[in-house]
Amino acid sequence: MAIKVRLFRPGDAPRIAEIVQRCLREVNSRDYPQHVIDKMCAHFTAERFIELSASRLIYVAEGDGVVVGTVSRVGNEVYTMFVDPDFARRGIGRQLVQQVEVSAARDGYDRMETGASITAHGFYLKLGYTDVRTSETEFGFNYILRKTLPPAQAARPL
Ligand SMILES: CC(C)(COP(=O)(O)OP(=O)(O)OC[C@H]1O[C@@H](n2cnc3c(N)ncnc32)[C@H](O)[C@@H]1OP(=O)(O)O)[C@@H](O)C(=O)NCCC(=O)NCCS
Repeated sequence: MAIKVRLFRPGDAPRIAEIVQRCLREVNSRDYPQHVIDKMCAHFTAERFIELSASRLIYVAEGDGVVVGTVSRVGNEVYTMFVDPDFARRGIGRQLVQQVEVSAARDGYDRMETGASITAHGFYLKLGYTDVRTSETEFGFNYILRKTLPPAQAARPL
């Protein structure tokens, strides 16, 4: 299945919220207590993604007309990286992160930062991010990671 990464449209919000809820309940629940999962599920609703789209650049990965993953960027920070569990380990997460890296480099940033869940820590290490510190947030324990971006990555049209 060919995956295309494009910018979020308001009509994507219900599907993105569904993907996030599935990830939280089926994948992240291995690493976080139920009350944290419930809190995150209550937070990441379709309405929340519409709100967030005013302050974040939200991208979606689409294959065969179906949204299968999402990631967001604010400045040089990566947020809300989620791939439908049915489509995990097919390179979709990598493609989404590459998109935000290219977009950040185009805006003049020379490094990316992210707060990774315990669940996604190994994923970010695989993508070349390195640990900076750990953090306790309202959504539990996180790793803060950083990656230096190569200068002037080629722009890729969306
Ligand atoms: C973590 C997540 C985004 C990864 O997306 P994905 O599409 O499955 O990842 P990819 O297939 O692009 O993987 C890229 C590389 O990372 C590796 N990888 C993926 N998930 C990994 C994990 N959880 N731990 C260690 N390595 C992982 C892959 O094997 C691949 O390595 P390779 O190139 O050597 O084959 C996805 O599994 C997910 O949504 N998880 C639950 C939600 C979550 O925790 N999101 C992050 C919030 S901070």
